[in-house]
Amino acid sequence: MAGQGVGGVAAVALPAAPDRLRAAAARFGTPVGVTAVADLEAAEAELRAAFPDPWLRAFSLKANDVVAVVARLGALGLDANVVSRGEWATARRAGVPNARITLEGIGKTALDLRAAVRAAADGEPLRWVAVESPDELDALEAMAGRAGLGRAGRPPIEVLLRLNPAVTPETHAGLAVGRETSKFGMTETELTAAASALPDVGPVRLRGLHLHVGSQLGAVDAWRDAVRRGLALFALLAAGRSGMDSFDVGGGFPVGDPGSVPAPARFAEEAARALASIPADRRPTRLATEPGRFLVARAGVIVARVLHVRERAGWGRVVVLDAGMTELIRPMLYGARHRVIALTSLGVAVDPGAAVEGANLAPARVDGPVCESTDSMGVHDLPALRRGDLVAIADTGAYGASMAMSYNGRPAIPQVLLERDGTLTGGRARGRVVGRRSGS
Ligand SMILES: Cc1ncc(COP(=O)(O)O)c(C=O)c1O
Repeated sequence: MAGQGVGGVAAVALPAAPDRLRAAAARFGTPVGVTAVADLEAAEAELRAAFPDPWLRAFSLKANDVVAVVARLGALGLDANVVSRGEWATARRAGVPNARITLEGIGKTALDLRAAVRAAADGEPLRWVAVESPDELDALEAMAGRAGLGRAGRPPIEVLLRLNPAVTPETHAGLAVGRETSKFGMTETELTAAASALPDVGPVRLRGLHLHVGSQLGAVDAWRDAVRRGLALFALLAAGRSGMDSFDVGGGFPVGDPGSVPAPARFAEEAARALASIPADRRPTRLATEPGRFLVARAGVIVARVLHVRERAGWGRVVVLDAGMTELIRPMLYGARHRVIALTSLGVAVDPGAAVEGANLAPARVDGPVCESTDSMGVHDLPALRRGDLVAIADTGAYGASMAMSYNGRPAIPQVLLERDGTLTGGRARGRVVGRRSGS
């Protein structure tokens, strides 16, 4: 993959043959997001090998909320991890039942919690709700009590409590959510107090703990420390109450050139060691992981078209594409580097591999089409380009479509799946351009 390492440069082949990407542009227009099914399958298989059953493996929809992508991952056996009713609805549209959906997230509203309570009252509970704070727990408990959960044959709503593991994740500050100062999760003190205030029998049933260290983790150390800390707290709490059996280690597995970042198997080794170090009778028996990026990042490509090529003093060649921060905000948000590769040069198809050897590559600053100077993907070596040429932006499968925005009145781009046999299937149509109503 290219550029998932924030600030780093990586050069890896595109997941799709260039002719299929040119075909996607011809059929669906540009910009267009293409997801290679073979790469989804390969990532899922690697994750499953590292965290085999009975580990629960969920896909975090925040990384990619395209229904067709979630449906493919669901069909491969992945559960869904969602942060809102919006993502929950997407998971359902993708065919994932409530029993395989977990709800977590710092932004849960009263409506989100109420929907979780209603689903439980209707006999279709989510697998669990991971609670962020004592306030959120109080609100959920009150709602669940009013709905009669935990009484008269109605099972309680099941929760995990999210621990802030207070570690220093080896990643970009913007992706490090497990720091002590971060807004996510509860401190050990808060969590212990919340757990002890929760009766063994009531409208809310505590099943375990949840944590997440950060995204695109460059090393396993902080993650290992967080899991150890979480398991130690789990063992302490489980000793004093019944029914605690679940432990969710979150996501965060990075993507990068082979050998440049730890694979899921390295994280799994650390988890096994941490589990072995606590007494068997206090070990969680239901273990879960919920990666996003690892499953989808490398499968995605955005195919974009060149709008302008100009010389700018101090920069040299500046290329403006029809895709930018509205389709992929990671370079602007985190300084992430995504490789930009020409698919045509002066109107003629080029093979990216051959282009590296043969064509005259020269640096060009690649900017997006949005009215912001920060709308830039940085400098890339590219052949001669003119208006209408096609480029591929690599490794856009994670935090691309799901972070897209409509600034400058830009519609969501179409999302298509590239099947193993090379066929392209529509995943999501281009959004509509919504004009102002006259007089408004
Ligand atoms: C709680 C939680 N779980 C899972 C994820 C998925 O992380 P990643 O895409 O790095 O695997 C995130 C990402 O922010 C998260 O906050």
